[in-house]
Amino acid sequence: KTYTQILVEKRGEKNNVGFIQLNRRKSLNALCEELMLELSHALDEYEKDKNVGAIVITGIGKAFAAGADIKEMEGLDFTKVYGGDFLSNWTHITKITKPIIAAVNGFALGGGCELAMMCDIIYAGEKASFGQPEIILGTIPGAGGTQRLPRVVGKSMAMEMCLTGDRVNAQQALQAGLVSKVLPDEQLVDEAVKTAEKIASYSKVATSMCKEAINTAYETSSERMVSTLKETFTRNDRREGMSAFVAKRKPEFTDS
Ligand code: HXC
Repeated sequence: KTYTQILVEKRGEKNNVGFIQLNRRKSLNALCEELMLELSHALDEYEKDKNVGAIVITGIGKAFAAGADIKEMEGLDFTKVYGGDFLSNWTHITKITKPIIAAVNGFALGGGCELAMMCDIIYAGEKASFGQPEIILGTIPGAGGTQRLPRVVGKSMAMEMCLTGDRVNAQQALQAGLVSKVLPDEQLVDEAVKTAEKIASYSKVATSMCKEAINTAYETSSERMVSTLKETFTRNDRREGMSAFVAKRKPEFTDS
């Protein structure tokens, strides 16, 4: 497959690192649907490739990713985001069993910060910055900003980031535990690839099981809860349950 939104090549001395560079320089790697589709596809290819033991994702230019593509989202309404396949590719990355390193080279904002957090290890270049500016757009984070971020940096900092839309720099991200290393910009990708090579040198069974074990502690389906919550409002039992509560009577559920 030829990609137009990302650059894909294997790296490392043994060609055992799957490298992906987000490649929409002009829009600061805004995560449009096509890009997310290509990213999912490339990840699946690396997942299948028996030689690949770890994956590195980075961005081209001054951004890792400036978020979901606002121009694409502008015209959407609730029916479209709710009923259609809006964001359907977004969690695919969490299904990949091979370890993934995000090498954050610049802005990681909104969905870009969330994409980094869906990876397993985050390295930051000195110019990196992280933020959840959705509030400024009159919306809220939808792919982990309200779930993964507080788990990683704690409630106060997550609240502050999401409620103010303010960015934090690489050093602040390091201090908060959002990233595990800050590197000079020109070394960022090489160091990420080196770490990926080391991981790839171990048993793939063991590294995948290790990743799964850690994610058991870190991943919950809580972001799915939000949409499932909305879904309950299409059901008779939700109405019955709430009506019963208000009327101070026992609900009579019909499983419908
Ligand atoms: C579409 C974007 C974009 C985005 C930047 N661009 N971010 N296009 N979607 N998220 C485009 C700009 O429109 C502009 O193109 C070009 O990239 C360069 O951006 P500038 O603003 O001129 O650059 P600069 O002044 O350096 O400012 C950089 C910036 C700013 C601070 C990162 O671009 C910015 O605030 N971007 C939006 C960040 C954001 O709100 N992200 C969250 C998105 S919502 P043109 O052609 O117009 O000049 C989100 C929700 C996720 O992610 C939902 C769940 C997954």
